[in-house]
Amino acid sequence: MQPINKNALRQAAAYVQAGKLVAFPTETVYGLGADATNDTAVAAIFAAKGRPRFNPLIVHVADSTKAQQYGRWNKTAQKLAENCWPGPLAIVVRRKKDSPLSLLVSAGTDTVALRVPGHAGAQALLRAAGCPIAAPSANRSGRISPTRAEHVQEELGGAVSLILDGGACQEGVESTVVDCTQEPAVLLRPGAISRERLQAVLGRAVADKPQQMEKSHGLASPGLLSSHYAPSLPVALHVTQPQHNDAYLAFGPKVPEGAAVTLNLSPAGDLKEAAANLFAMLRALDKPCYRRIAVMPIPPEGLGEAINDRLQRAAADRPS
Ligand code: TXA
Ligand code: MG
Repeated sequence: MQPINKNALRQAAAYVQAGKLVAFPTETVYGLGADATNDTAVAAIFAAKGRPRFNPLIVHVADSTKAQQYGRWNKTAQKLAENCWPGPLAIVVRRKKDSPLSLLVSAGTDTVALRVPGHAGAQALLRAAGCPIAAPSANRSGRISPTRAEHVQEELGGAVSLILDGGACQEGVESTVVDCTQEPAVLLRPGAISRERLQAVLGRAVADKPQQMEKSHGLASPGLLSSHYAPSLPVALHVTQPQHNDAYLAFGPKVPEGAAVTLNLSPAGDLKEAAANLFAMLRALDKPCYRRIAVMPIPPEGLGEAINDRLQRAAADRPS
């Protein structure tokens, strides 16, 4: 783990250029990065995470001009890029013919998810490395995303050449993923940019992904499996009466008593603060001395959609 400074950035860029894995902060969560044009390096990401090969990766680039070198741009993608980049939005478009991007980032589809991150450390790394960086969240596949460098160290420390430490991630939930290859655009993953914001930018509703996509493999957004973000303890949602052996994840000013331990996502009832605390608090409550993680109801609007999405996945039945 190294704090972000000139030296650390130079070293991280050199590792990326040499085909090694580097973890770095973004405004959403920490990413596990590698040169997106290098097949061996991209394959190493899948291996380190234990990630199924049918789940494609987001490619991070420094600016829109770079994004347009790799993806076939259309009006919808253009509007979203103009209004939401740099920022927590991944835009799915068709790959450009003869794209230098590894085919592995697309996991067998002819599309690619592109994102220009807003985080200064991520930007500095992209510019220093001079190549597009494929980066999933820096956690083992199916586990909780890391919002601090220490989380990455605990889970993937042995697999990465360097972890750039930028402190806690501001947004705390992953980017919103939007498929712009169809009209209307499809919201594949709710995230740090709300559905309401997307709709305001596009001037029309975005579509939801078809239900059956969740269960199948090899479809348009194969990564969105129902069980994900899984702590070791079982997770119960909408709990308004916690039990004495519960680890309780609360929200808002009025918190029922009775749990063994309680952490409050936002005592003020602020969804932005709740999103930023979500993954770190899930990790902190995930201790074998409790019976389960019980979660208070969280409002569904705005960032609440992404928070509830992650909680539902954390609570979903897990494949054995
Ligand atoms: O906030 C974020 O997006 C973080 C930071 C590091 O940028 N990254 C991240 O990556 O969350 P990951 O791999 O954990 O999640 C990416 C999601 C997956 O659900 C994947 O299936 C979807 O984006 N995805 C990636 N490429 C896609 C594509 N070509 N078509 C459809 N979905 C895609
Ligand atoms: Mg992830």
